Amino acid sequence: MMKGVHFLAIVALLSLASSFVSAFDPSPLQDICVAIDDPKSAVFVNGKFCKDLKDSNANDFFFEGLQNPGNTDNKVGSNVTTVNVDQIKGLNTLGISLVRIDYAPYGQNPPHTHPRGTEILVVVEGSLLVGFVTSNMENRLFTKVLNKGDVFVFPIGLIHFQFNVGHSNALAFAALSSQNAGVITIADAVFGSDPPINPDVLAKAFQLDKKIIEELQKKFEY
Ligand SMILES: *[C@@H]1O[C@H](CO)[C@@H](O)[C@H](O)[C@H]1NC(C)=O
Repeated sequence: MMKGVHFLAIVALLSLASSFVSAFDPSPLQDICVAIDDPKSAVFVNGKFCKDLKDSNANDFFFEGLQNPGNTDNKVGSNVTTVNVDQIKGLNTLGISLVRIDYAPYGQNPPHTHPRGTEILVVVEGSLLVGFVTSNMENRLFTKVLNKGDVFVFPIGLIHFQFNVGHSNALAFAALSSQNAGVITIADAVFGSDPPINPDVLAKAFQLDKKIIEELQKKFEY
């Protein structure tokens, strides 16, 4: 009887451990593990199913089109073009990805966090006011104006932003330390969740009148 219970506990622990492993970018256990959606022709499991090595080729590690600007004609005046494991299947298990960010004059990449990745950004055109804020209770702002050729780091999980302070377009590229860093845009998550968060919660949290919260929720409606 006791042995059976032990066995079950061990099985439960092991399955928990393996689900933790696959929730992160794991250290690769082989040279390459090109992600594949169809497990029928897959050979190895390490986070995602991997394509059979003999079926893999250079195109699994290739993406084209990053010379094209994203369309910044939207309410924040910026556009992020993502190149992660969804675009390059060969990034699977490698713990890295890339974005191109275009900014209209005075456009911004609004306050957001990447739950799974540190970001390193280089400005290619224009000038950006950037910053990140550390966690409670300090909530310290680290901020800087970046010009062409400048590089800045946004540590994993911390809220950060970029704002084009120039009167021309700006362009940056950034690498992230995850094949799928994730994005949580603060305003969208808080005011635009689906279904909406009870406005009484947000009124107290933001120390605002409930009417203002409801207006904000309309603006960010999913
Ligand atoms: C970003 O640009 C692409 C390419 O022009 C466009 O398809 C997409 O809708 C844009 N996204 C936003 C949020 O404006």
